[in-house]
Formats: sequence, structure tokens, C-alpha cells
Amino acid sequence: MKSILDNREVLAKKVYDVAEVAGYLWQKGWAERNGGNITINITDQVDDEIRAMKAIAEPVAIGATLPHLKGCYFYCKGTNRRMRDLARDPMANGSVIRILDDCAHYEIIADAPVKPTSELPSHLSVHNYLIAKGSTYKASVHTHPISLVAMSHNPWFLEKDVLTNLLWSMIPETKAFCPRGLGIVPYMLPSSVELADATIKAIDDNYDVVMWEKHGVFAVGEDVMEAFDMIDVLDKSAHIYIDAKSMGFTPDGMSQEQMNEISTVFHLPK
Ligand code: 13P
Ligand code: ZN
Repeated sequence: MKSILDNREVLAKKVYDVAEVAGYLWQKGWAERNGGNITINITDQVDDEIRAMKAIAEPVAIGATLPHLKGCYFYCKGTNRRMRDLARDPMANGSVIRILDDCAHYEIIADAPVKPTSELPSHLSVHNYLIAKGSTYKASVHTHPISLVAMSHNPWFLEKDVLTNLLWSMIPETKAFCPRGLGIVPYMLPSSVELADATIKAIDDNYDVVMWEKHGVFAVGEDVMEAFDMIDVLDKSAHIYIDAKSMGFTPDGMSQEQMNEISTVFHLPK
């Protein structure tokens, strides 16, 4: 079957990176059934031939007007599609969409009419925000990491930067590789525009990874691997905390002095 990825090495690599991460999400147990979604901004990989491609489904309203997305293209996981299936066949479980000139509708152009994720309002609003800010980030990942979500059931962990500091202190690498910590968004209805707006607010507060209380996390990065890695280091720290607790003690955490030393060596804010 003909694919938009045929003879487009760079675009194909980007979509297959999404497939690789989808496999990791499944293996980690973070992607039950259709859980989680990934989108990447592929506008830089779009050529004249793609621009001329006809839609293969009727235009759909995004639910918001996103002025910076005019003429942009995204690869999106399909709604109700499984990460473990996407890992094997990304173009049968996701699709490429084009944002129309009114900035309020999208149309699917390839390969099959797979309807994008129900969290599209959050993903597209965040991409719109990133472009407006002049960010070079191209990827957004939403997933359901078990340990981090478990911790979000305790209101004390939802106070600003309580989890950030606790997770950073579990292992030196966490601050080094997730230097902006973990933002918190209180529980809101999945796929709602309110959730999208709250997510942007948290990202604007300088977080690359945001906790959706009792649901999952949403991360942004230069590419899909970077977004995944930040969630992975945070969840690793959450695991260490929970393992210590299940052995019957509260982990000490690194001292403030040790944290400061890491910040100096890795040139991070203190
Ligand atoms: P989709 O299958 O629509 O991507 O939804 C999964 C999900 O995790 C919703 O929050
Ligand atoms: Zn979800």
C-alpha cells in the first residue's frame, strides 16, 4: 500500500521514533488498552507534494481557534488505538493531519482516515503555544505512568513543587535530565478544552512535564524520545520512593547540599 512515508526518509524516521516510544509505553505498563497519545509537528518535513495532497475525510472542528497552526501538519495517534498496535504499524493506528486556514479545523491527508486522539485539544493547543513562544519543541506525549499517577492521589504531593523536589532528591540524574520538574494540573475531564488550557498554563510556568491529577502526565520536548525520557526519569524516582515506603521506611532523599552540587555541575538553576 502507498504511504506518505514512502521515499521520505526524515519523515519516516520521525514517525518510526513515535512507534518506538509507543512500544516502550506499552512495555512499561503505562498504556493499558488505548491509554495515552502522542503527536509530533512534522511541518518542517512537508514538501510541495504533501501540500498538494487532497483530504481523505471531511474537515473536523478542533474545538478551539489556534492561529499559529495555520498550514501546519501533525502526525497523531488515532483515538481508541492501542500503543502496542501503533508500535507495529504507526500509519494504520495514527494519521497525518493538516490544519486548515481558518485555524479551527483539521483534515486527515494520509495514510488512512484514522480519527486523531481525543486529547487533540490539549496537544494542538500546546503546539500552538510552543510556536507562539518561538520554541523548537516538536513533540508532545501523554501517558499513564503507574507510580506517578499513584502519587497524584495524595493531596500533599499536589502542592506546588512538593513532588518536583521529592522526585529530584531520589537519584541525582532526575534533576539533571528533568531540570524543570513536574507541574501539576488539578483533575479535569479528559479531552476537555479546560484541561488543554490548564496544561498550557503549567507549561508556561516553565514545566516540560505536567501531571494531570489522577490521570497521567503530559510532556513536551524537542522530539518524542526527549519527552519520553523526562517522564521515564521522573517515574523511576517515583518507583524508588514507593519501593522504600513499601520496605517500611521513608527515604531520606539527597540533602540540599548534594542537590546544589548537582545543580552546579550540570549548570542547572538552584
Ligand atoms: P485516545 O485513545 O483518544 O488517544 O485517548 C486515550 C487517553 O489516554 C485519553 O486521556
Ligand atoms: Zn489519558
